[in-house]
Formats: sequence, C-alpha cells, structure tokens
Amino acid sequence: MAMTADGKIATANRAVHSFGSARDLEHLYELRATADAVMCGARTVEISQSILGTGGEKFRKLRLKKGLAAYNLRVLVSGSGSIDPAAEIFKKRFSPIIVLTTERASEKKLKLLRELADEVKVFGETEINFYAALHWLRAKWQVNRLLCEGGGELNDALFRAGLVDEINLTICPKIFGGRNAPTIAEGIGFPRLAMADKFELTAIIRKKVELFTVLSRVK
Ligand SMILES: NC(=O)c1ccc[n+]([C@@H]2O[C@H](COP(=O)([O-])OP(=O)(O)OC[C@H]3O[C@@H](n4cnc5c(N)ncnc54)[C@H](OP(=O)(O)O)[C@@H]3O)[C@@H](O)[C@H]2O)c1
Repeated sequence: MAMTADGKIATANRAVHSFGSARDLEHLYELRATADAVMCGARTVEISQSILGTGGEKFRKLRLKKGLAAYNLRVLVSGSGSIDPAAEIFKKRFSPIIVLTTERASEKKLKLLRELADEVKVFGETEINFYAALHWLRAKWQVNRLLCEGGGELNDALFRAGLVDEINLTICPKIFGGRNAPTIAEGIGFPRLAMADKFELTAIIRKKVELFTVLSRVK
C-alpha cells in the first residue's frame, strides 16, 4: 500500500488513487513477482482500472527464476458480485481471473461474472470467509503466497481474520486530509486496543523522498 503522511490511501473523492513515485511502482511489480496471486477489492479494480499484470518481461523473468509461473493469478473480491463488467481487467486475458463472492450475489450476477472470470467461488453468507477462501486458493490454484493490494475495506477484512503476515507500506510525503479519505484499513476495524492486529517494523529504507517499510506480524 502507498500511504500519505496523514495515513490516507486515496483522496476523499477517490479521484486520486495513484500517487507513489516511479520507484514505488517498480516496488509494486517486484512484490507481485514474489507472489503466486495478486488480490484486490471490487472498488479498487474499478477505480484504478488495474489489470493486476506482472509489469513486463523483466518481472516475468524474475518470476520464472524464482520458480513461479510467468504470470500471477488475479483474484477479485466482491461480496455482492457487483464488479463492473466493463472493468479493464476483464479485457486482458493473460492469466486466470478468480472472483471470490458470497451468497449475497444474485444468480444473475453470478452468471455474468462466470462469463467474465475463469472461476467464481462463493465463500460465506454475507462476508467472505477468507480462512476458507485462502485454503481453497492453495489447494485448487496452488497459491502459496498471496499479495493483497487493497483497498482499505478488503484489507480490514483480512486483518480481522488474522490472515496478514506482512505489510509493505510506502510512506509518501503528501497530505490528502479529508475525514472521508480512506486509510489502509477501513470497514469494521477492531473495537479495543487488546484486539488490535500487532506488527513490528522489520525493514525501513529511504529512497529519495519516500520511505519503504515492511511490517511483520508479531507471532
Ligand atoms: N494507495 C494505495 O496503495 C491503494 C491501494 C488500493 C486501493 N486504493 C484506493 O482505495 C480505494 C478503494 O478502497 P475501498 O476500501 O473503498 O474498496 P476495496 O477494498 O477495494 O473494495 C471494497 C469492496 O470489496 C468487497 N469486499 C471487501 N471486503 C469484503 C468482505 N470481507 N466480504 C465481501 N466482500 C468484500 C466489497 O465488494 P461488493 O460491494 O461488490 O460486495 C466491497 O464493497 C480506492 O480509492 C483506491 O484507489 C489505494
């Protein structure tokens, strides 16, 4: 995640969603090159129009060198099955697209998604049961390392499920402000300090004006 100095990941009106440097983008592709699959929430894939690609030949070579498939799998999350069918990701067919959804998705929406994605799988009644979903991704699609690229609502669900091992956070020297501007964990959150998901800072590198940090879960 790229985050401003005031802890935001986009502007309040969601108009600005990309604000890291070219180095940060390179870092994102490097991270994708360590993962079997890249996952993001419905709103992120619609707003950013990201295709969740590898970033080019250089990164595909890196993937192959590490014993990964040339292209990462792409996983989208939408509890209501409401991802915009016109989203750019559905137009680029270089690797399988898997949609995780819930019983809230209507038959009509499921049918449409099945035409767009390679697999659509229901986990849970109203909220996705990520514990079961990640088990299934490993068993069925050999996903051993999953990179989640947000947004805040999806991140929150993963934090609450206790499924985040590591956070890669780029701190960018900008202030967006705005009480409605999203942060890295939106959604429901934790009600008490004792319940907060706990991490320790395991790496920090300054490159030009940005700080590249890694936070690892406290076991
Ligand atoms: N700075 C960064 O690094 C960065 C990275 C990513 C995104 N962003 C920004 O973050 C914003 C989007 O974040 P967001 O929090 O609004 O959206 P999001 O997390 O991308 O997507 C939210 C949607 O994902 C589905 N979802 C998430 N958790 C779920 C769960 N537990 N069960 C079922 N469905 C679930 C729901 O889809 P349905 O409504 O379809 O059910 C929900 O509405 C955008 O402005 C984007 O640009 C910034």
